[in-house]
Amino acid sequence: MKIITTNQELIHSISDERLLGRSIGFVPTMGALHQGHLDLIRASLDRNCYTVCSIFVNPTQFNDPKDLEKYPRTLSSDSEMLLKAGCDLLFAPDVAEIYPKVPDTTPSFDMIGMDRVMEGKFRPGHFDGVVQVVYRLLDLVKPDHLFMGLKDYQQQAIIGRMILALNLPVFLVSVETTREEDGLAMSSRNARLTPEWRQKAPIIFETLQAVKTDVLAGKNISRIEAFYFSKLTELGFRMEYLEICNPLTLQPISHFKDKAVVCIALWAGDVRLIDNILIVA
Ligand code: PAF
Repeated sequence: MKIITTNQELIHSISDERLLGRSIGFVPTMGALHQGHLDLIRASLDRNCYTVCSIFVNPTQFNDPKDLEKYPRTLSSDSEMLLKAGCDLLFAPDVAEIYPKVPDTTPSFDMIGMDRVMEGKFRPGHFDGVVQVVYRLLDLVKPDHLFMGLKDYQQQAIIGRMILALNLPVFLVSVETTREEDGLAMSSRNARLTPEWRQKAPIIFETLQAVKTDVLAGKNISRIEAFYFSKLTELGFRMEYLEICNPLTLQPISHFKDKAVVCIALWAGDVRLIDNILIVA
């Protein structure tokens, strides 16, 4: 596996692959890799001749400077994991490489309010930063396929919207959430859960499955939301949201027709967790 840090080296390596007619898959990450990321790499290896992974802790998507400071940086163990997984190229640039001091060239597009709900409500400006960095990385890597996890449902939906609105020549592949055996969605934050919260945490996915059953049974949407919101609150979680929404626009729905996504964000002690489930009739 090649490890590079500059745009020049990246463009050089990619153009060699292009000249060889090899398709390119791209997995953007912020490092602190776990099995969920490796499943994205696997999905890329299955569909492409050449897989590029980026590790870049993007400052523009953090609204809390303390969060940015605390974010784990584990480049050497990450690169070992990528090597073992069969990744071809690791791009690990610094901030000046991604954001040189020229005016920002991210084209604007209508996020149709997708950035203002759920995560966008609790982390203002977060998705502007995500869009900015993913646009920049796509412009550098120019992959055939972009791989993103469904765990961050709203993020991949907004990036899908960007690709459509700006007519970008890349195909988004959204990959199923990787779960622990007890159903907890994998996340680098899970390691920070106390043993008590870790034991309770599988209830999040169990709740999502119960919501799905109730939605498919035709129960009232706002009553379902209120019921499970209170149930998780009673169990001691500090709830941010539990929303049943349209999976394409992310706007809340009042009736279920044929598809929906249920998204949850909550605090388990000091650790903020998110998860979601898709419902297709
Ligand atoms: O999901 C992440 O790790 C980040 O938001 C991403 C997509 C790599 C952009 O910085």
